[in-house]
Amino acid sequence: MSYISIDQSQLQSSPDEDHEVREHLLTVDIQQPGEDVCATRFRIRDLTKVSDAGAPILKGINMDIPKGVILGIVGPSGSGKSTVLRALNRLWEPPSGTVFYDDRDILDLDVLSLRRKVGMLFQIPVLFEGTVADNIRYGPQLKGKKLTDNEVHNLLSLADLDSSFFNKTGGEISVGQAQRVALARTLANEPEVLLLDEPTSSLDPISTENIEEVIMKLKKKRGMTIVMVSHSIKQIQRIADIVCLLVDGTIVEVLKPDKLSEAKHPTALRFLQLSA
Ligand SMILES: Nc1ncnc2c1ncn2[C@@H]1O[C@H](COP(=O)(O)OP(=O)(O)OP(=O)(O)O)[C@@H](O)[C@H]1O
Ligand SMILES: [Mg+2]
Repeated sequence: MSYISIDQSQLQSSPDEDHEVREHLLTVDIQQPGEDVCATRFRIRDLTKVSDAGAPILKGINMDIPKGVILGIVGPSGSGKSTVLRALNRLWEPPSGTVFYDDRDILDLDVLSLRRKVGMLFQIPVLFEGTVADNIRYGPQLKGKKLTDNEVHNLLSLADLDSSFFNKTGGEISVGQAQRVALARTLANEPEVLLLDEPTSSLDPISTENIEEVIMKLKKKRGMTIVMVSHSIKQIQRIADIVCLLVDGTIVEVLKPDKLSEAKHPTALRFLQLSA
């Protein structure tokens, strides 16, 4: 049995929370098949960030992310969702001793190899110059590996794009298709984790469904760990195994997707009600 837990100290810092002490860790059990049932991919301990002006952005995040789950992160704008994601592949350098990947402090890992293992997709896909195939070959090429045409086709297919995209350029494809190319380009690095920061928010419902299907397939067939920020509660309910609610730099709830309406934190509850 795996779990994600957050501790009481996170709740005390919330201005909306009364001072009633919650004695137990908030945990959610998630059953996962396979031998990595209890393995933790990311361990986050007391992750804190303060802006240059001295304003708190993250107020001591504690979280274990088990291997092979889809973790959804939801919360109001400015609550720190992207900041947490960016800490996981060092787009923002977290303090030492706060983020661990397979039990190793990520600051002790080579940053480029960490980013290969922990790929990221953003809200707006940005393709490099050249063809779709050039984009997909980019990452492996940095390591001196040239993907064969066949390997490129397989990656296109994994991202639900047919072979006709191989020679297209960024200017010839839609945003939804570009997001799938960006996904194929990320997958070319054979990541173990995908960080997704609202990857479907600029896509139509069909492109959104395509991306969601690919994400679920990657979890199911490859045991990939996926951390996804989304403003769509419905989307999180469709695909996540577990949901963290982030409010004002604090994880205030960890819930199963079908239990979101049981959130107790007032801001979280209001956010969820308005988003439903
Ligand atoms: N480089 C920075 N310097 C100063 N403040 C920052 C910086 N990056 C983010 N912030 C602030 O940190 C807070 C959290 O930002 P973040 O982008 O993580 O929020 P978010 O939850 O992803 O919001 P959204 O849903 O709008 O994307 C915000 O108040 C933001 O203004
Ligand atoms: Mg964000």
